[in-house]
Amino acid sequence: KRARDQALLDGHEFACKLYEHLLKHTEEGRKALDYLLSRGLRSEMIDTFRIGYAPNRRDVLTRQLERRGFDLELMEQGGLLSRSEKSGFMDKFRDRITFPIHDAKGRIVAFAGRAMGDAQPKYLNSPESPIFNKSRTLYNLHQARPAIRKENTVVLFEGYADVIQAWDSGERRGVATMGTSLTDEHARQLRRMAENVIICYDGDDAGQAAAYKALQLLEPLGCSVRVAMIPDRLDPDEYIRRHGADAFRGEIVEAAVPAVKYRLIYLRKNFRLQEEDGRLRYLRQAAGIIARLDSATEREYYIRELSDEFRISAEAFRQDVNETRISRQ
Ligand code: UTP
Ligand code: MN
Ligand code: MN
Ligand code: MN
Ligand code: MN
Repeated sequence: KRARDQALLDGHEFACKLYEHLLKHTEEGRKALDYLLSRGLRSEMIDTFRIGYAPNRRDVLTRQLERRGFDLELMEQGGLLSRSEKSGFMDKFRDRITFPIHDAKGRIVAFAGRAMGDAQPKYLNSPESPIFNKSRTLYNLHQARPAIRKENTVVLFEGYADVIQAWDSGERRGVATMGTSLTDEHARQLRRMAENVIICYDGDDAGQAAAYKALQLLEPLGCSVRVAMIPDRLDPDEYIRRHGADAFRGEIVEAAVPAVKYRLIYLRKNFRLQEEDGRLRYLRQAAGIIARLDSATEREYYIRELSDEFRISAEAFRQDVNETRISRQ
């Protein structure tokens, strides 16, 4: 089993080197390289994240692996190759930009392959294998861990491109899940490394809903959670390219709002706040969220903020909050 896992790791490392070479030093890698550069990815990042290109051919990798004596059946189980009745083994990733996925120890255990055009899926991910478990793996953890530990804070992204662009902007605490939502296992792993989590998901509706879910998962584990809010439905990668590194770190990451504040904002979409009835029902629910805060100072802070905004008496709203607290005891 040990030998099998080692062979799979060797196969992935070999494939990564091949893809890197094909991207940087061949004619067929040219358009992939142009694509990456046109997306604002600096060549230093291509090296740091070991990005590569799997060409539009049936068996570049297959033949190289075979020549070096790799067990092709095993490589298929590991997700590097696929197989058909008719034509035997062939490369799994074809005409895609390759992003190697490392485990916590820094060994390559999988790939994500991004299509350059409209090919579906946009990202093709390696299947689970003896060395790759999606619900435990966090992209870039091996490189981000020192900064996460040092600053007792992790920054959680949705996508690979976000992690990479953020890294280039100086944000070294970034990791991402593998195209799945955050799992309990991910959350526990993060909690073991850091107390503070900044969720920095996409600014679109899907991203904001996912942020809310991640928040609900992380807080019960004792994480202190903040949520970054990106305007104009941009994702972190797009925001950085449009507004620059300083704006991203200062106005997005540093300005991430506390969990309660995020809940109060997120809740709004369920109500018609232009109508009196909607406003009152929103405030009822908001009182319930504020009531859950342990600190009286924090409760007071949000009571004032909302009563100011909605022009109601702070006294009356405070009473609602307190009644919710009492009825819960
Ligand atoms: P997004 O659709 O937000 O992609 O999905 P992105 O990260 O912004 O990608 P670019 O910028 O267009 O290249 C977020 C993440 O969901 C996973 C990937 O991990 C992606 O980074 N995903 C998305 C998949 O696994 N497969 C897909 O087909 C799409
Ligand atoms: Mn080379
Ligand atoms: Mn998204
Ligand atoms: Mn995105
Ligand atoms: Mn993107």
